[in-house]
Amino acid sequence: MLSDECIYLRRLEQTDLDRTWAWVNDPAVYLKIGVQAPVSRSAQLQWFERLDRSAERLVLAICLNEGDVHVGNVSLDSFESRHRTARLSIFIGDGAHRGRSVGSRALALLAGYAFDFLNLHRIWCKTTAGDARIARFYEQLGFQREGVLRQHEFVDGRYVDKVLYGLLRGELRRVPPTP
Ligand SMILES: CC(C)(COP(=O)(O)OP(=O)(O)OC[C@H]1O[C@@H](n2cnc3c(N)ncnc32)[C@H](O)[C@@H]1OP(=O)(O)O)[C@@H](O)C(=O)NCCC(=O)NCCS
Repeated sequence: MLSDECIYLRRLEQTDLDRTWAWVNDPAVYLKIGVQAPVSRSAQLQWFERLDRSAERLVLAICLNEGDVHVGNVSLDSFESRHRTARLSIFIGDGAHRGRSVGSRALALLAGYAFDFLNLHRIWCKTTAGDARIARFYEQLGFQREGVLRQHEFVDGRYVDKVLYGLLRGELRRVPPTP
């Protein structure tokens, strides 16, 4: 079980789709994770059915131990089997649960799984440049800023730079205790 003293990760289930649908249609989430919103329910169901049959993408629900509440999702995709790399993505869908270490804990559990179970060597992600909180979020876990993709995406009416962050096996730092 992927768990710590506060949260656990489990496979996304079909019964999680209504919540996930609402989250990925929320600009606080879709503008950050690059989802092509609005997402229809039928498109989301097709996405889930492909996901359930595929080994190319792993999506896990982030749940609080207390009350078994599903608060967000974390995923790995773009696996490169020869290079042992994958891309990660994360969001805490319910704003009330952001800033409470849930994301850091989820990312630490995912990284442990990626390195110790899937035997990956490197995980990476693209984030929006100029967001100090996001930078802190990744850097405090040991991710290194590896480069800038200039005007790489068109988001909310303008081109934005994206920052690449990477974490190699052995670089994960301990999650700070919940304040
Ligand atoms: C980014 C995200 C996953 C971080 O998860 P979280 O549970 O809110 O973060 P944590 O509580 O573990 O905080 C760790 C650090 O991240 C920072 N942080 C980043 N985004 C934050 C947010 N929206 N709210 C609060 N803290 C945030 C905090 O400053 C904190 O650093 P600090 O302890 O030095 O203050 C979450 O805020 C989120 O889902 N945001 C919307 C979607 C998104 O941006 N996804 C990432 C795309 S790259």
